Amino acid sequence: MTPSLLITGATGFLGQYLVAAARRKWRVAGTFHRTRREDAERLLAGVDSGKIDLTDFRDVRDMLDAVRPKAVIHSAALADPNYCEQHPDESLRVNLQATLNLAGLCGDRRIPFVFTSTDLVFDGTRAPYAEDGPVSPLNLYGEHKALAEQAVLERYDEAAICRMPLLFGFADNGRVPFFQRMASEFRAGRPMTLFADELRTPISGPVAAVGLLLVAASGMEDEAVNPKEIERVRGILHLGGRESISRYEMGTQMLDILGLPPSLAEPISFRDVPGAAARAADVSLDSSRAYALGFDPPPVRKQIERLLGRTVEEKKDTDAHG
Ligand SMILES: NC(=O)c1ccc[n+]([C@@H]2O[C@H](COP(=O)([O-])OP(=O)(O)OC[C@H]3O[C@@H](n4cnc5c(N)ncnc54)[C@H](OP(=O)(O)O)[C@@H]3O)[C@@H](O)[C@H]2O)c1
Repeated sequence: MTPSLLITGATGFLGQYLVAAARRKWRVAGTFHRTRREDAERLLAGVDSGKIDLTDFRDVRDMLDAVRPKAVIHSAALADPNYCEQHPDESLRVNLQATLNLAGLCGDRRIPFVFTSTDLVFDGTRAPYAEDGPVSPLNLYGEHKALAEQAVLERYDEAAICRMPLLFGFADNGRVPFFQRMASEFRAGRPMTLFADELRTPISGPVAAVGLLLVAASGMEDEAVNPKEIERVRGILHLGGRESISRYEMGTQMLDILGLPPSLAEPISFRDVPGAAARAADVSLDSSRAYALGFDPPPVRKQIERLLGRTVEEKKDTDAHG
């Protein structure tokens, strides 16, 4: 029987890519929160979906009893550092308390629980960071994620914590990620300022989904979802890309791919753009543990090409079908 996977935050940037990749092999159930039901039904067409506030323990318990998933990927979060800085109580409830509740409920049921954490648990002064490096968050988002990591592992020692790097791609949930804004500005011939001194090890949404599904399926005896018989992944795992690059470099790569002048990308320093949350200079991840397990992110340029190619294809498809 096809195993079932619960994806929290299925209407989010990462959740959308997770659902698209998972449904090829899993029976997927996805949750949403503030997205209007009709929009969620459009975004999650063909997938069991449910509206839930994950901070409500009883609702979460009832949902797990109803869905009975074989594994859970927790991608719901308040993921905007500036928002978290300005809404500390809400961030604590969603990013720490809801995560801990879900981890505990999965622990009680002994089902794999994959928590998506962040490279922003680090302060950016000692990259590249391996899994065993001490955390040192600069802002509340990173702090609450770091607290959640520790609390999850104390509550359920079989949980997997995947620290995600900067993710890039497109979203059709009404929020426009930086990569999408970059693509539309450049395609319209408009310049865009991009941080040149903030380094990350980015991966695209589709590549992130592949990595997280590998972890969710690890240890399962089902050949469809775990064909390489990867042993159960526990503890902290970095799912970063192979290159340490800035958004500015990503912009120049995109311009090169699109055949547009490199001057459309204008380098700026993150130090010149004040925000509510402090920013880290270089939170590049050392992801060799994940690579040894078979996680194999392609070069960033290739990932950008694939994303742009697909939107071109999608556009052709839309044009052809009105
Ligand atoms: N995007 C990145 O570059 C990046 C980098 C590192 C780590 N991460 C991590 O990756 C994960 C996914 O991030 P993302 O960028 O996809 O975030 P996102 O686009 O902001 O999506 C967040 C999701 O969480 C849901 N959600 C928020 N509060 C909720 C609540 N109280 N109850 C239930 N659901 C709730 C949202 O539902 P509604 O929209 O329906 O309200 C949405 O589906 C997060 O754990 C984030 O920390 C992301």
